[in-house]
Amino acid sequence: MDRRARAVAQMDRRARAGLSKMTARNGVRRAFSYRILEPAVRARALHLQTKQGHVEEQKGMTITAEPAILYFGTPVALVSSQNEDGSANLAPMSSVFWLGWRAVLGLSAASQTAQNLCRTREAVINLPSSDMADVVDRLALTTGADPVPDYKIGRGYRHVRDKFDLAGLTPIASETVRPPRAAELPVQLEARIEAFHSLAADDAAMRGKILTFEARIVRVHLDESIVLDGNPNRIDPDKWRPLIMSFQHFYGLGPRVRPSTLATIPEAVYRSPDVDRSRAA
Ligand SMILES: Cc1cc2nc3c(=O)[nH]c(=O)nc-3n(C[C@H](O)[C@H](O)[C@H](O)COP(=O)(O)O)c2cc1C
Repeated sequence: MDRRARAVAQMDRRARAGLSKMTARNGVRRAFSYRILEPAVRARALHLQTKQGHVEEQKGMTITAEPAILYFGTPVALVSSQNEDGSANLAPMSSVFWLGWRAVLGLSAASQTAQNLCRTREAVINLPSSDMADVVDRLALTTGADPVPDYKIGRGYRHVRDKFDLAGLTPIASETVRPPRAAELPVQLEARIEAFHSLAADDAAMRGKILTFEARIVRVHLDESIVLDGNPNRIDPDKWRPLIMSFQHFYGLGPRVRPSTLATIPEAVYRSPDVDRSRAA
């Protein structure tokens, strides 16, 4: 029997047993179920085993798991909002994405920011670059809410009234909304909240605890250093270095990995009617 046939026979024996024990690179013995593998993945595992040896076999395998969070990596934003007494709040968050000139933000309903956004329907989404992780981290475990919600006390949060001051950032007036921008951050997006919903409204225990906000961008302020040469209406992704949060930790982006087929579509094609609408803001 040649090596490949021996490997196939061995895999089949393991598959019949349902569980396989393998030795990981660090020497820890771990169990994997072959029953959950799709045929293509299993074929790849076999290929790696026969061509590259036993340890490499793990690369093509999956396990089922229950991670408490699924924060695979999104940009960090500092959201400015206006408190009831007219003062400004500033909070780090990272559950955010954009489609056209709309941003979707996920925030705990108990946060001061969520309360402010529901009441005033205005915000500024300020984006730090990856060299500003220290600034962002100064705001971690703080809240503008007073009193601090019980669940946050248990996690070590404290109330801070002036978070611009704590972060060492300068509030400057926005052009279209009341919350100020953070002057030092290279991207400042003034926004109006057009809608908000409860996440997990299907679950009585979770309903109302986390809110998703749909923010319509009404003004975009960019640091000149991230703008494409010769085109002020485009951001150069080779110059823009966002701060990324992945599983509670700070990261930056690496360089571009290859040319992108999607990028053959001119960026201007994506221009939404919101851009023209924003001029009237
Ligand atoms: C880098 C970072 C990212 C965060 N991302 C989120 C998030 O996406 N959603 C959220 O509700 N809280 C997030 N938090 C926690 C909030 O900052 C925290 O709830 C804070 O108390 C909100 O401030 P506020 O109560 O003054 O609004 C994040 C914290 C840090 C440091």
